[in-house]
Amino acid sequence: MLTLAIESSCDDTAVAIMDGNRLLSSLRSGQEDIHTRFGGVVPELASREHLKAIEPLTTAALKEARVARTDLELIAATRGPGLVGSLLVGFSFARALSHVLDLPFVCVDHMAGHILSPFLGRTTPTFPYISLTVSGGTSAIHLAEDFTSFRQLGHTRDDAAGEAFDKVAKLLGLPYPGGPAVSEHAEAGNPEAFAFPRSWLDDSLDFSFSGLKTAVLNRVNHFRQCREEVPVADICASFQAAVIEVLVTKTLKAAREHGVREIALGGGVSANKALRSAFADACRRDGCTLHAPPPAFCTDNAAMIAFAGQRLFEREGGRTDLLELDVYSRSAPEPTAQNRECR
Ligand code: KG4
Repeated sequence: MLTLAIESSCDDTAVAIMDGNRLLSSLRSGQEDIHTRFGGVVPELASREHLKAIEPLTTAALKEARVARTDLELIAATRGPGLVGSLLVGFSFARALSHVLDLPFVCVDHMAGHILSPFLGRTTPTFPYISLTVSGGTSAIHLAEDFTSFRQLGHTRDDAAGEAFDKVAKLLGLPYPGGPAVSEHAEAGNPEAFAFPRSWLDDSLDFSFSGLKTAVLNRVNHFRQCREEVPVADICASFQAAVIEVLVTKTLKAAREHGVREIALGGGVSANKALRSAFADACRRDGCTLHAPPPAFCTDNAAMIAFAGQRLFEREGGRTDLLELDVYSRSAPEPTAQNRECR
């Protein structure tokens, strides 16, 4: 089914064209240059950039895929969670396209896209699998039962893993987005230099990263107050090690508790090389199979929205209430891709 998908939940405008499992084009227009000055995403600037990018990017994606608008069979768009102003640009543009071209329309939950993103990789998971999605907006563990049912087993109680990377980068004076910068510095550092706290929250599969972020802040302030040079590489390596240990341990625990041996990663933080390598080791040790999308499909992209949208359409058909549909900002605990309510 020839599908055009649009993703605009945060600061990436993305458009993909997919036909069944064949990805014909997947383009992204990032806004890092705009937001890096502020050390994080400025929502109003993000919406304005989406407005500028959405039409030319859609035209470019169609051109690269060698597809005419009139050949399309389905339109899919991210409905939430995310920044409302950003979501509204892509979602409204996609709804208008579906109306003008008289094509069926499906709304995809951003988290459902990340949970299914390993299907864009070299090895694809079999259901049921345990999904860890770690991005700038959320960190969650789901039991993926099929292409449209995802049971949430744990989620972040405060900062998302990516948010923690971004905040630590900011306090160290590193550029936004912080994840790639922190992981690059971490490569030259000692992960055991500082014993930063791991928040286990008893037996829960939930996450909490705000205490870790505060511990890093206190340590950095200590160096600054003593007028000593901040050992950036060691701080990055020790912080990253603490995040990774918690993510790996809780994900593998979820797999054991649910008798599942398939593990899949998704979201921007899953592009982190040290995280992937720690997961590979832990999965080998526990007899699990690991699936992760290529780095380009870890961060926000429209290919995952096209994939999820097609599966959803096969199961539930398209939406007929186009004019009443609205976007939502908060994460739904069970992201069935066709959420009906704002949450
Ligand atoms: O999935 P994503 O593109 O957007 C959201 O839906 O949030 O994730 C972006 C997040 C940012 O917080 C960024 O710092 C983090 O993913 N990230 C990384 C890496 N690459 C991106 N975190 C750690 N290591 C990386 N290599």
